[in-house]
Amino acid sequence: MTSQVRGVQLARLLGQWHALPGRRRSPDYAALAAAVRGLLADGRLPLGVRLPAERELAEALRISRTTVTAAYRQLRETGHLASRRGAGSWTMLPGTHRVASTGLWTPLDDRDMIDLGVAALAAPPELVPAAHAAVEDLPRYLSGAGYHPTGIIELREAVARAYTARGLPTSAEQIMVTSGTQHALDLVLRLALAPGGNVLVESPTYPNALAALAARRARISTHGLAVDGPGWDADLLLGSVRQTRPKLAYLIPEFQNPTGHLMPAELRERLVATAHAAGTDLVIDESFVDLPLDGTPLPPPTAVFDRHSRVISIGGMSKPYWGGLRIGWVRASAPQVQRLAAARVGVDMASPVLDQLVAVHLLAQAPAIVAARRDQLVTQRDALLDVLAERLPDWRVEVPRGGVTLWAELDGPISSALSRAAEEVGVRLAPGPRFGLDGTLERFLRLPFTLPAADLVEAVGRLAAIRYDLDRGAGRPRWREPAVIA
Ligand SMILES: Cc1ncc(COP(=O)(O)O)c(C=O)c1O
Repeated sequence: MTSQVRGVQLARLLGQWHALPGRRRSPDYAALAAAVRGLLADGRLPLGVRLPAERELAEALRISRTTVTAAYRQLRETGHLASRRGAGSWTMLPGTHRVASTGLWTPLDDRDMIDLGVAALAAPPELVPAAHAAVEDLPRYLSGAGYHPTGIIELREAVARAYTARGLPTSAEQIMVTSGTQHALDLVLRLALAPGGNVLVESPTYPNALAALAARRARISTHGLAVDGPGWDADLLLGSVRQTRPKLAYLIPEFQNPTGHLMPAELRERLVATAHAAGTDLVIDESFVDLPLDGTPLPPPTAVFDRHSRVISIGGMSKPYWGGLRIGWVRASAPQVQRLAAARVGVDMASPVLDQLVAVHLLAQAPAIVAARRDQLVTQRDALLDVLAERLPDWRVEVPRGGVTLWAELDGPISSALSRAAEEVGVRLAPGPRFGLDGTLERFLRLPFTLPAADLVEAVGRLAAIRYDLDRGAGRPRWREPAVIA
C-alpha cells in the first residue's frame, strides 16, 4: 500500500524552504521543487510516497496553488514525481538511479567520486598475509559442519582477552561473534526490544543505528549533544533516562560518530547506575574504542560499572582493521549470549569461519596495526583541519581526540544543499540531517578523515568553490543519489 504524506506533514518537513541559501533569484515554485528534491536527497522523504494534493499543500504552506502546480510540474520534468490523473503524485527518482528492493539507495559506481559519505579506512597491508595465514588454518575446521552461532572459540578468546586488557574481565562465553557491529546491534535489538519499544539515542547519532531502530519500529527520543566540551550534558542525559525510562539506550561513548566526543568516566558510572534504577538496558557501541589519537587516555569501558547485566557492549573490526571483513561482536553475560545465539540461528546461523580466522590473525598483531592506523589518522585529520582552516575558515570544528570523523558546524543551514551541489563536483557527502531524526542539523556536516590527505585537500577545495557558488545562487545543481553512509 502506498503511504501518503499529508500537507501539514510535508510543510513541517519543508521547514524554511523559501529561505534556502542560493535561491535569491529563483522563483518560489523552483525553490519549493528544490526543497522537495532536498528532502528526497537526504532520505527524509521516502520514495514512492504520495504527495498531498496541490490545493492541500498550498493551504498548508499558505502559498498559491499555482506555485505548487508549477513546482510539481518541475518535479515531474526532473523525474522526481510521477502523476496519474485522478490518482495523485508519487515521489520517485530520475532514471539514472537504482534503488534496491529494501529501499536502500545504492549509488552507481563512480570511480572519480571522492566519497566522504563513508567513514572507514582502506584495508591495512597486513590483511592479505592474514588472509593467507587463515587459509592455512582452515583445515582444522573442515572436519566439522562449520556452523558456530557464537563464533569460533579462538576469536571469542581473542576478543575476550582484549576486553580483559582494557580492565573489563571477560570470558569467551561472554562473547558472540557477529557479521559486523551493525549485525550485532540488530541482534541485540531483536532480543532486548519489543516492537514499538522506546529507545533513547544521542543526536546526532549513527544513521544506520537509526535504521536498525526503525526496523524494530522503536519510539525514539534523543539526547542532544553539544558541539563543544564533553558533548553529553550529564544532568540532561540522566534526567531523560529517569523521566522517560526508555527500555533501551543506544550510545557511542568512545569518539562518538559523528561528533568524536569521548564520554568521561564519571558520567559512565552515573549513567549505568541511573539506567539500572530506571530499568533501562544500555547498548554501548564501541566501534571506535581502538582509535584514541594524540595519546588521549581512555576512560574505563562503560560495562566496568555494570553489576546487573544492564550493559551490552558491541564492537568490531571495521574501524581499526577493515569494514570488508564483516566481523563484529557482542559482549554480554553468558546467558544473554546464549539467547542471542538462539535468536541468530533464525537470521544467518553463523559468521563465516574463514573471515573469523582472518580476524584472529589481525588481532594477534593488534598493537602494530592499530598504532599505524592511529598515525595515519592523525596525519589525515591534521591535513583536513589545515585545509578547512585555510579554505573554509567560517566553519567551526572541534579537534576530535579520536575516531575518524569531524563534525563541522557550517556557516549556515546549508548541509543538504551543499551535499547536492557537491555531487556535481565529484564529492559525496553525508549531510547533517542524516544523523538526526527531525530534519534538523542542517548547520552540520560530518567529515571523515579516512581518505588519503591529498584526497581530503582536493575535496575541501571543491567544497570551498561550491560554497561560494551557493551564495551566488549559481546554477541549480542536478540532483544525484544520496550516499550509502557508513
Ligand atoms: C557507531 C558505528 N556503529 C556501527 C558501525 C557499523 O560497523 P560494522 O561495519 O562493523 O557493521 C559503524 C560504521 O560506521 C559505526 O560508526
